[in-house]
Amino acid sequence: MPESAPRRRLLPLFAEVGGGRSPKTCQYRCGNACFHPAPNKSDNPYFGDIFRAVLSRRTALQGAAVTTGAGALGLSSAGSAAANERNHPSPRPTFEAVQPNTDDVVTVPPNYDHHVVIRWGDPVLPGAPEFDFENQTGEAQEQQFGYNCDYVGFHQLDDDHGLLWVNHEYTNEELMFAGYTDGNDADLEQIKVAIAAHGGSILELERQNGTGEWRLAGGDRPFNRRITGNTPFRISGPAAGHELLRTEADPEGVEALGTLNNCAGGYTPWGTFLSGEENCDQYFVGGDQVAEEDREALARYSIEVEGDTYVGRRFDRVEERFDLAKHPHEANRFYWVVEIDPTDPESKPTKRTMLGRFKHEGATTAITSDGRVAVYMGDDERFEYIYKFVSAKQYVKGSRKHNMSLLDTGTLYVGRLTGNSPEEEIDGTGTLPSDGEFDGRGEWVPLASNTESFVDGFTLEEVLIHTRLAADAVGATKMDRPEDFEPSPVTGKVYCCLTNNDAREPGQADEPNPRGPNKHGHILEVVEDRNDAGAESFTWNVPIVCGDPEDESTYFAGYDKSKVMPISAPDNVTFDKDGNLWVATDGQPSALEINDGLHVVPVEGRFRGELRTFATVPVEAECCGPLITEDNKTAFIAPQHPGENGTVEEPTSTWPDGDFARPSVVCIWHTQGRDVGTA
Ligand code: FEO
Ligand code: CA
Ligand code: CA
Repeated sequence: MPESAPRRRLLPLFAEVGGGRSPKTCQYRCGNACFHPAPNKSDNPYFGDIFRAVLSRRTALQGAAVTTGAGALGLSSAGSAAANERNHPSPRPTFEAVQPNTDDVVTVPPNYDHHVVIRWGDPVLPGAPEFDFENQTGEAQEQQFGYNCDYVGFHQLDDDHGLLWVNHEYTNEELMFAGYTDGNDADLEQIKVAIAAHGGSILELERQNGTGEWRLAGGDRPFNRRITGNTPFRISGPAAGHELLRTEADPEGVEALGTLNNCAGGYTPWGTFLSGEENCDQYFVGGDQVAEEDREALARYSIEVEGDTYVGRRFDRVEERFDLAKHPHEANRFYWVVEIDPTDPESKPTKRTMLGRFKHEGATTAITSDGRVAVYMGDDERFEYIYKFVSAKQYVKGSRKHNMSLLDTGTLYVGRLTGNSPEEEIDGTGTLPSDGEFDGRGEWVPLASNTESFVDGFTLEEVLIHTRLAADAVGATKMDRPEDFEPSPVTGKVYCCLTNNDAREPGQADEPNPRGPNKHGHILEVVEDRNDAGAESFTWNVPIVCGDPEDESTYFAGYDKSKVMPISAPDNVTFDKDGNLWVATDGQPSALEINDGLHVVPVEGRFRGELRTFATVPVEAECCGPLITEDNKTAFIAPQHPGENGTVEEPTSTWPDGDFARPSVVCIWHTQGRDVGTA
């Protein structure tokens, strides 16, 4: 839209509901999950102190390690933390911080510029039609950029070209279609658009004149691709073909159609993208008509099996497979981590069953000290768990075919954390215990390898398909919505965002989740034993307890709180080359009445805890991405659901173009070519 176009009247709204989210995000993203009791009904303790027979298997697992050092792989190993401290004594971003605001724009620091790389509806495939808001069709949307861009990953082809992968998490139909009420009344074409607006996009980008600015590449763009709610996926790993994954349309249980609610993700050492299927429950109806014996497992995955089904979308009106009354196993074919090869547009993306089935947030990788691959994963719902997978085989640089099989064999673990302070010192207010830290030890409890189950009463396939139930059985630690869980490429320490949990009562606070209720969330730092991503035990601490720094319950690693900035609902993270932690948020509008943004905080050296805001996103948008390119010259963010409390008729945001709100990917760079984070 031209600059002169009239800007539309805005209705600023900061309504809050449970969980610190706003009503529309609740409705369309998670099917109003916070209005329902948390689905984890297990009675496993908040402090996991029960060791079951499961653990007797661990010695055997540890003995299975293969040889070969990790030095050649460039990853941290034992002893390297001290070396890293010497090499990176006190990293500290020096940019002039962006102040908290409620502006309907993307705001970046002085000396930085930004532009919108691509918006919902922009053409992706060659020959794709131009976006036509009022006459959108499913066929057009299949060739155009999808809705609600979330995780952003980058595969560099050469100095000046790269492939951007973007998740399209979910759709806000009330912002996409005029007059939309719900899925019962939706036009079938609108439902087709919505299915096609899910999934992900691969986009070829081109660097502009040697700077940190990237734009869509011109020419044929042969790598460009759309993956949608209808794209065929191979189901791989030990659960492939299991009866619970078979349907009428796929009697072999080896091919699923579509990926949905792709939230965060990760980039593998072999150049593929991992993407997590998260709140998949809201796409299904008919849960109340399934056989009695199937109900417990469906309910554990937040699927409604008794009351009214969520009808925000009604995909079943176009694709009958979304009706569980007719196809009860279809839900088992979602909630996986999927792997996509960006360099082969003809390749069939894969659902990796060895990584377990839950509300996957992201999936980020590290190489173990003996050369295998670890994948860190969060299950984003109140009182859910953190997970890790370690491959059986080693990563082999340059051997693509071999590496593409790594995620099918290995061991899946769930986290059990224990605090080191007396229980009575953790009172739910966030007050530090007398030893001065929320910290302790943790165990990676094995759930299954690719050959056997380690959980009594569960077969291997059942552990992988009903992972939440298996994790309940081993007493995993209930966390406050584990979102992104990502290892620092500089130190090997692993950071997990616990975004918030309004349902944790004061008496349920424990040292790893020290506030109840937890309105603003916190960040967990995990240091694997021997600094080895393959370890089965770790130490942990909570360096950041989020909120307004004037709020007594907050903590910023002991740093002077008069020098830090507010943060709430930490969600997705990335790292710069100095190992500073960049944290994008999802909930500041309702929790702090300021826009969401991208913050950065040093996690090593004397500025550890000095959290400041680098960018803010438009009204009611969540700051997704984030990504700092390997050369440190570019930051990508993906503001999704701008104006989420509005409608087409009564918008609360008109970003980016002044007509109507469009989720978009934004590129940010320093105008003098300096590293991202510098002044
Ligand atoms: Fe899709 Fe957990 O945020
Ligand atoms: Ca302690
Ligand atoms: Ca997220």
